[in-house]
Amino acid sequence: MVRCDETVAWAALRGHYEAHGRDLDLRQVFADDPARFDRFALQAPEVFADLSKNRWDEVTRRLLVELAEACGLPARRDAMLAGGPVNTTEGRAVLHTALRAPRGDAPHGDEVHAVLDRMLAFAGQVRAEAGGAITDVVNIGIGGSDLGPRMAVQALQPFCHPGLRLHFVSNVDGHDIDAALRGLRPDRTLFVIASKTFTTQETMANAAVAREWFLAQGGRDTARHFVGVTTNLEAAAAFGITETFGFWDWVGGRYSLWSAIGLPLAIAIGAEGFRTLLAGARAMDEHFASAPLAENLPVQLGLLDVWYRNFHGFASRSVAPYHQGLARLPAYLQQLEMESNGKGVDLDGRPLPYGTSPVVWGEPGTNGQHAYFQMLHQGTDVVPVEFIAVRTPSHAHAELHTKLLANCLAQSQELMLGKTAEEAAGEQAPTASRTLDRAVLARHRRFPGNRPSTTLLLDALTPRSLGALIALYEHRVFTSGAVWGINSFDQWGVELGKALCNALLPRFASGDAAGLDASPAGLLARLRA
Ligand code: F6P
Repeated sequence: MVRCDETVAWAALRGHYEAHGRDLDLRQVFADDPARFDRFALQAPEVFADLSKNRWDEVTRRLLVELAEACGLPARRDAMLAGGPVNTTEGRAVLHTALRAPRGDAPHGDEVHAVLDRMLAFAGQVRAEAGGAITDVVNIGIGGSDLGPRMAVQALQPFCHPGLRLHFVSNVDGHDIDAALRGLRPDRTLFVIASKTFTTQETMANAAVAREWFLAQGGRDTARHFVGVTTNLEAAAAFGITETFGFWDWVGGRYSLWSAIGLPLAIAIGAEGFRTLLAGARAMDEHFASAPLAENLPVQLGLLDVWYRNFHGFASRSVAPYHQGLARLPAYLQQLEMESNGKGVDLDGRPLPYGTSPVVWGEPGTNGQHAYFQMLHQGTDVVPVEFIAVRTPSHAHAELHTKLLANCLAQSQELMLGKTAEEAAGEQAPTASRTLDRAVLARHRRFPGNRPSTTLLLDALTPRSLGALIALYEHRVFTSGAVWGINSFDQWGVELGKALCNALLPRFASGDAAGLDASPAGLLARLRA
């Protein structure tokens, strides 16, 4: 494999960064180039991107594309789409794209469509009973078996069946399942036990609690009220589940929304809605597969991430969806990006001398503005911000929506423009001290500006646009991972904690602290006291 930091393009990017990148001033480049907005705009299926307020220029973009080519991005992309074993450490293909391809257009079409058809038919049956025999659906799963459907059900609320309440239980903290079960009737509740492996401690423990609750509350016919979604059909059967929707080891947990893991979403939005979500993702897949790298939105975003992480040294990116329905998107993206690209060795196992996944975090706007945006505007770290705005809301409060959009645009403007101390000195802020030295005050009220942001625009938040948006992020993560030369599809980093937890569990009963370090031993003693 070609290591990105050993390519000619990487060296050229380093030189370009030193000469023009570090000091690029967004205010200046906009003043110099009235066409900058158009020059840095990209339209992908369902998603328009304004990339102009980023600290890059045409040369950076050209060199980044050269870097992608030198690192074999197109070949790696094509290998993934064709079903090559790109998840090398697990010897698996990575084919979440096959889950949204028309039959015959991708590997495994027959299996995929057989399960999809059956799952959508089942979702239809549940919807037919909605509000009567079934009023509540409880999904029990964690990580990729929770975050996707949970995020999407919230995002697509206006499309959800009004006679059904969807609940999501993920945490092994019993407060989570207690809150979900409160007020439910066993005879009107459907439990979906969602686990790729059907061995995950949290999910298995919560599933057992749910079954106990169901029986204790007089529930009958477990077979009708519990369904499973898993690749491990035997384990689901051993749990007593007879209705199971399968998927395959070539679907990574964090890429599994499109598989039967999407069942709660399919129940909520129906077969047509779910197929439309898949079609939106498919449109983005086709864009990713065929658009030239310079006009390929996921590729451009992934390369921008590399530019910021490895040349500017920005270690974090904030996602600010200006849509309440996307409140869980940052959490979803945390798993997608940080579990995929939070790696420290390349495909050959060599330690990396450069940074990989940034910290991804955020909250919906405008809430974040009244919390941590202070740090984004005046803190000592530069954090690129990704705004997501939706042109047409699904509510009728036009005046609220205009205010929301104005806030979104204002924030990216403020990040870029900043405010000089001189400008601040010329103002009289209503809450400012009247006794403090004016020059000192002006320095407190100065904004450095030149802080980068990207704005993504959707026309409306629909199953189709949400599908395209999520697929955009998947391919963007693939792009930066491919340039970094890492395996974006394993997650060994979560294994050690599971093993240590299993080793600690019996100590809670026995109190045996032998062999433990002083800190876990001390904490164990206090927790058992
Ligand atoms: O612990 C991390 C992880 O393996 C994720 O990758 C996965 O999405 C999650 O656990 C849940 O796993 P499962 O679906 O097998 O229960």
